[in-house]
Amino acid sequence: MDNLLEVENVSISFIQYTKGLNQRDLKVITDLTLDISEGEILAVLGSSGSGKSLLAHAIFGILPGNANLNGKIKFKGKELSQEDKEEIRGKNIVLVPQSVNFLDPLMKISDIAIGHCDSEEERKEKKIRQREIFEHYNLDPEVDDMYPFQLSGGMARRVLVSTALLADPDLVVADEPTPGLDEKTVEETLNHFKHMKDQGIGVLLITHDIHAALEVADRIGIFYSGYVIEIALKEDFSGDGENLLHPYTKSLFKALPANGFEVIKGHQPLHGEIIKGCPYYDRCDMKFDRCKEERPELVDVGNNKKVRCFKYEEGE
Ligand SMILES: Nc1ncnc2c1ncn2[C@@H]1O[C@H](COP(=O)(O)OP(=O)(O)OP(=O)(O)O)[C@@H](O)[C@H]1O
Ligand code: SF4
Ligand SMILES: [Mg+2]
Repeated sequence: MDNLLEVENVSISFIQYTKGLNQRDLKVITDLTLDISEGEILAVLGSSGSGKSLLAHAIFGILPGNANLNGKIKFKGKELSQEDKEEIRGKNIVLVPQSVNFLDPLMKISDIAIGHCDSEEERKEKKIRQREIFEHYNLDPEVDDMYPFQLSGGMARRVLVSTALLADPDLVVADEPTPGLDEKTVEETLNHFKHMKDQGIGVLLITHDIHAALEVADRIGIFYSGYVIEIALKEDFSGDGENLLHPYTKSLFKALPANGFEVIKGHQPLHGEIIKGCPYYDRCDMKFDRCKEERPELVDVGNNKKVRCFKYEEGE
């Protein structure tokens, strides 16, 4: 299967002013690498504040002005410039944003969903398709004339998903689509993504909810302290977690209620903490001398899996 989206060694930092006029580069994302194929759901699992929305915004070219972006973002094999991102966003790639606050509060829902049209004819065609998709998601005609603040949580989610589908995209990036929703609406929202996958759409699901990730994703990228430390298959999260590779991912799995709630000791290094060696060094019970001095790279271990740990490098 061909890759739709490739994110290669992306880092994102902000200039931070310290005492006086001193500046420092505050790295939030240090090394993020992932890829998604057509009809695949890849979840990126990271804790709150780890830079997940920044990743989404980097793909769409909507990072804040003070952000520094390095690395490559490719779509269908072509590296995207800022202009390319502006050209394809909302068309080939669409964002299901983290919050309904991304919707223009002064516009009616159907106008938001339809978006910009070049002609009256195009508008009419899109209006018909908008109604069809809204109908499919149980959004009654009254919703078309509502404003964003009038939507309930579940309705807002369905509007955001329908709006994304109306663009007929190749790739959907969903930023934290489940928090604050009741169990039934979470289930419903996740089913929407499965439905997109069945239509051949690639879905990047950005979340801190491991249950949501395990429910729908084909592969799961684990984001830790600014690094992708493992890309595992969904089925690796089973049994005793013996097929998971990185010690952090194994611990995450053991921390699930069904697996005994085993607490992970220690904490993730904070943004701006300078770490020379492996970002997991302090918490790792498999560490050895090299881990303190050198930083492991993310290595391909075959079968569409990757891991960032010296234990899996040849010769270790
Ligand atoms: N404009 C900015 N200027 C400086 N730092 C910023 C800016 N925007 C984001 N950050 C930093 O980047 C971090 C990550 O932000 P981001 O919104 O991507 O996290 P997140 O993983 O999406 O969190 P959440 O789970 O809460 O949505 C923030 O905690 C903050 O330190
Ligand atoms: S590189 Fe070393 S410290 Fe890092 S996870 Fe692997 S064994 Fe642990
Ligand atoms: Mg976020």
